[in-house]
Amino acid sequence: MKQDWWKEAVVYQIYPRSFKDSNGDGIGDIPGIIEKLDYLKNLGVDVIWLSPVYRSPNVDNGYDISDYKDIMEEFGTMKDMDELIRQIHKRGLKLMMDIVVNHTSDEHEWFQKSCQSEDNPYSDYYIWKKGKNGGPPNNWGSYFGGSAWEYCESRDAYYLHMYAKKQPDLNWENPKVREDVKKMMLWWLEKGVDGFRLDVINLIAKDQRFPDGEQKEGEPFGNMIPYTHNIPKAHTFIKELNRDVFSKYPIMTVGETLETTAEDGKKYAGFNEHELNMIFTFEHMNVDNGKNSKWSDQKFQLTKLKEIMNCWQTELDGVAWNSLYWNNHDQPRVVSRFGNDGIFWSRSAKMLGTCLHMMQGTPYIYQGEEIGMTNCCFDHIEDYEDVETVTAFRQRTEMMGEDPDYMMRCIRKKSRDNARTVMQWNDGPFAGFGNNGVWFAVNPNYKKINVSSQLEDEDSILSYYKRLIRLRKKYPIIVYGDYTPLFADSGKNFCYTRQYSNEELLVLCSFSESVQDIRVPVQFQERRGRILITNMSGLTDNDTEQYQFGEHITLEPYEAKVILFENL
Ligand code: NOJ
Repeated sequence: MKQDWWKEAVVYQIYPRSFKDSNGDGIGDIPGIIEKLDYLKNLGVDVIWLSPVYRSPNVDNGYDISDYKDIMEEFGTMKDMDELIRQIHKRGLKLMMDIVVNHTSDEHEWFQKSCQSEDNPYSDYYIWKKGKNGGPPNNWGSYFGGSAWEYCESRDAYYLHMYAKKQPDLNWENPKVREDVKKMMLWWLEKGVDGFRLDVINLIAKDQRFPDGEQKEGEPFGNMIPYTHNIPKAHTFIKELNRDVFSKYPIMTVGETLETTAEDGKKYAGFNEHELNMIFTFEHMNVDNGKNSKWSDQKFQLTKLKEIMNCWQTELDGVAWNSLYWNNHDQPRVVSRFGNDGIFWSRSAKMLGTCLHMMQGTPYIYQGEEIGMTNCCFDHIEDYEDVETVTAFRQRTEMMGEDPDYMMRCIRKKSRDNARTVMQWNDGPFAGFGNNGVWFAVNPNYKKINVSSQLEDEDSILSYYKRLIRLRKKYPIIVYGDYTPLFADSGKNFCYTRQYSNEELLVLCSFSESVQDIRVPVQFQERRGRILITNMSGLTDNDTEQYQFGEHITLEPYEAKVILFENL
């Protein structure tokens, strides 16, 4: 497989609002990020993915951009941004900007002009349609509740918004829109950024017939997904971005792509497709969904999770590249979701890190994951901030008859706000995030879970993540090796092997609270290997510990062990 820097990199995501506040306004900011760059360098990551910092009215915390070439006041200035780029590069790190081009804010100048009349240069920058039978043009529902269409009096027409009504969708069919988007991206590349994370990039093309979607019983709106996600034209548009923008610079690109299977992954991130370097799929994040939505309190099934991960690992091998993630600003905390944030908190957090980082692909760490930050549950809907959470509560309890107590249970498990409590730097006031309050909340467990208590502790989750990253740099098998699933039917462990030249890596991860006895695959019986890492205390991980297999191996609750066999 061709070697590329972005295949070998580890990415760290910063959600700036909740990362570090430098000026005491309770909101994280760019100078705050600069203060923490040495921490990130020391962690060993290579690339920083920065969630949006552009000017924005903040309906969706920056994913509603009103000026792509300016910085949100609370976060700092363009001078701060230039300094951030300089400081990142000075440390040998790279910066990946989060760019949202499926939609803008309704306060963006393009929309302000577009909504004025049908005959100005910006009138076709967004998707405008006349109403039908006194209502919207079709029955599509938006992701953030309500119809996906909003009426605008000055045009006597509706505009499409797949997210909040203050996030109108751009009209990618209009070549002028594409030219402006490309110019803006080139402007950032000229500033020196090293890549883009492209927000919901597989939604940019829409079925131009705009038909009604299927409406399930009890659902207030029709399903827009078949007409707005993964439409073939999306590939045409992304190829154009690649030709005119991405291919001009040695950058890295990752597309956020909802509703994608491994087949889609091969198209968006195929080595010969000239689209993106990799994508974020949601398949593995949907394992604990309910029937029609993410709002469910059901526990995930390990066999299902493995089936999905194993499929992506094997299908993409040699033809496309994976991104590996458990967490981001839209997902609950993984140790609470797939691990055990009680008695096995530390061990299960390390196991989850191991399970992901030993796979083929580029691993992403979301702020706080490296110290095992957990979900943060609130009693009342008023305690939540996130537009998705708040609108879903309203729509599902008021329009769909969902029991409010049940909905709150789902929210505690699944709300995006679980990921948005502030970064826990120490056990001082406001968890060391700032010195004067926080815009949202501090998880009360910050006295126990924080960076400063883990920095010097060799046995901490933080030290463990550093080792995982170090191993990836040292052993090409972790980056480039083939992947073979083991014990696919087991609902208790997640095991696999990797193969590369004359080496083999065995990765054993327990997702169970009980001890397991596993029959060792024949090819490893009576063989000697080296333990590269394990989360069981008492064993060192200096890469030299010898390991001799018998016929069986015992896995303790949430144990993880990685063994390398050389000179096969
Ligand atoms: C995906 C982003 O990650 C999420 O935070 C945002 O709400 C939507 N796209 C809309 O931009």
